[in-house]
Amino acid sequence: MSRKVYVSRGLPKRVMEEFSRICEFDVNPIDKQASREELVNGVKNYAAVVSMLNDQIDAELIAQAGPDLKLIANYGVGFNNIDVKAANAKGIYVTNTPDVLTDATADLAWALLFGAARRVVEGDKICRTSTFSWAPEYMLGYDVTGRTLGIIGAGRIGSNFARKAALGFGMRVIYYGRHNSPALDEIGGKLVSLDELLRESDYISLHVPLTPDTKHLIGASELAKMKPTAILINTARGPVIDEAALAEALKNHVIAAAGLDVYEREPQIEAALKGLDNVVLMPHVGSATFDTRTNMGLMIARNIEAVLAGSEPPNVVRV
Ligand code: DGY
Repeated sequence: MSRKVYVSRGLPKRVMEEFSRICEFDVNPIDKQASREELVNGVKNYAAVVSMLNDQIDAELIAQAGPDLKLIANYGVGFNNIDVKAANAKGIYVTNTPDVLTDATADLAWALLFGAARRVVEGDKICRTSTFSWAPEYMLGYDVTGRTLGIIGAGRIGSNFARKAALGFGMRVIYYGRHNSPALDEIGGKLVSLDELLRESDYISLHVPLTPDTKHLIGASELAKMKPTAILINTARGPVIDEAALAEALKNHVIAAAGLDVYEREPQIEAALKGLDNVVLMPHVGSATFDTRTNMGLMIARNIEAVLAGSEPPNVVRV
């Protein structure tokens, strides 16, 4: 019976040291995404698989799992890359890394918001490639302080982002979600319909998980309802936005700008977006800070430890 762990990609040194302390493991020896064959080997021959958010752990892969596999531990909070139902049906736990990445991801959403509102990337490019000449209406952007922020998805990251908006920038917060959020109500947030949020927000930030219900939640008709000065931020999952429709809306100034960390077909990015100045693009790095990536790995170590001891891991996801 295997008690070994397969780690699909090398994690920060401190995490690998912790894994060495608590278990035996094999790790992808090269710093590249695991191939399908490597993942098949992982699920077939190990007790736990540590997967990355770009590893597709679908039903077909899970069907090949060996009898020892007890845990798939995803290095990330989103777990849309894993067929959780198929795993659970075989008695395999799926875990994620919530909480430890909330601040880092919300902070990146702020970087994108300011980058888009104040044209940071455009300005940087000008400074590097030409000379600038100051003028009263040169490089005008949009105010943030005191404006209206619309949050779609009032979970941990959305609430954290909104709290920073209200407390740091005196923004009025409205939100759309399935339920009232006590965290958002506490900072004066107001639950509204999606239509109202689209019409009233100066900034809209997406924080919903990717599910069949949230795929293309923002498409051409939603973009058309936004203010022409609206700025859209996405640090959630790419397919929540119809990326081709967004490129078209940005090109035609249906909305003012966008800041994106996630894409519909990662690592591909809609070609039309790349030619536009009014979008700031980041390569899916919401949780990518030194401390956060370490803490995510240490959280996975606690889940491995629990499973190897025959207990339920602390960060089980439920669908
Ligand atoms: C995650 O972990 O799911 C997020 O995409 C953070 O980058």
